[in-house]
Amino acid sequence: MPVLPVDPRRLRSGTTVLALAAAAALALSGCAGSSLDQSGGGQAGDAVKIGLLVPLSGVYAPLGEDMRNGFQLYLDQHGGKLGGRTTEVVTGDEGEGPQTGVPAAQKLVTQDQATAVVGVVNSATALGLRDFFHESKKPLLVANAGADDITAARKSEYVWRTSFSNGKVGAPLGAAVAKEVEGGVYLIAADYAAGREMVAGFRRTFEAAGGKVAGEEYTPFGKTQDFQPFLSAIRGTDAKAVYAFYAGAEAVSFVKQYRQFGLADSTPLYGAGFLTEGGVLDAQGDAAAGVKTALHYSSELDTPRNKEFVDAYRKAYDEAPTVYAVQAYDSAAVLDKALADAPGGTGEEVAKALAGVGPIDSPRGRWSFDADHDAQQKYYLREVRDSGGTMVNAVVSELS
Ligand code: PHB
Repeated sequence: MPVLPVDPRRLRSGTTVLALAAAAALALSGCAGSSLDQSGGGQAGDAVKIGLLVPLSGVYAPLGEDMRNGFQLYLDQHGGKLGGRTTEVVTGDEGEGPQTGVPAAQKLVTQDQATAVVGVVNSATALGLRDFFHESKKPLLVANAGADDITAARKSEYVWRTSFSNGKVGAPLGAAVAKEVEGGVYLIAADYAAGREMVAGFRRTFEAAGGKVAGEEYTPFGKTQDFQPFLSAIRGTDAKAVYAFYAGAEAVSFVKQYRQFGLADSTPLYGAGFLTEGGVLDAQGDAAAGVKTALHYSSELDTPRNKEFVDAYRKAYDEAPTVYAVQAYDSAAVLDKALADAPGGTGEEVAKALAGVGPIDSPRGRWSFDADHDAQQKYYLREVRDSGGTMVNAVVSELS
């Protein structure tokens, strides 16, 4: 099957072009007139519908855009097919949380008849969706949201995660900061599941390594634009460093105001890598210089696999890829393998096949699902540095 000449930029604005691409692919394969299988199942070689649930609005909208790009890049590199099936992507708007994300996911499954759903940025949305997917017997591939329980206490055979658990992102940095900082560290995060779990993961390893907490604060999620009162409170303690979790628009405001408030020079800022990732870092610019974070990806990773990916992504979208793009790209790779091993293409077959996909040769490094369906992977210590006039997340070392 020839690769369709689709301009990926056009795919950012809707699903119509994908539907056209799917129809064109069917026509090219001599199956003109056959329609997409509406049952969510079908014979190998038939088309498949995949739901993509990402924020198209709210503080995390730019993350959703990166995820759409990553998923689409994989499809474009693989002739528009997953598991040998021409793939139609139907996109739903997660919005800012479960109020919008849960009904949008339900629509993808019940109305659009998607065989599987990929995406979900917000931990609260993921927690709100777990039972629906478990009971509907449809696979949910969580391509960002880190809610710990989704791949632990509330694990389901239908829910798999290609991204991370919040606690596991926070943990690798704790011991390193305890060693590096003399004195107390202040903990601050967005007030919802992800913020609390990212702090808890950090705190566990930080305190185990002898670190002392100088204070702790959770800021209203999605509503805080002015961080000055919180920054004043930090200044009022004897904290020698700060650890933070923010992402998207909140990360931009927090890091810029941290610098403007004069804390950056006296009190080094650490965080989960989302704090300085992608478009967020572009918007922060020099204000982010020196921020140190832990994450399972950086576009700066110096490996042949990542370089090849970064080149392809830049060519398609004219910017460097982010962790969100990689997680969605890898989700497509996972589905490619699982669908190939699901001859009837039903949700139940795909969920079973997910157990056998094996290691994924990802731009982030090789990773596999662990026994709880979570991504088992390396974490990197990154530092924001100037590279020829552009701020990047330079890879300092691997964390264990
Ligand atoms: C989450 O809610 O789990 C979440 C959101 C944005 C991130 C990371 C985690 O960048």
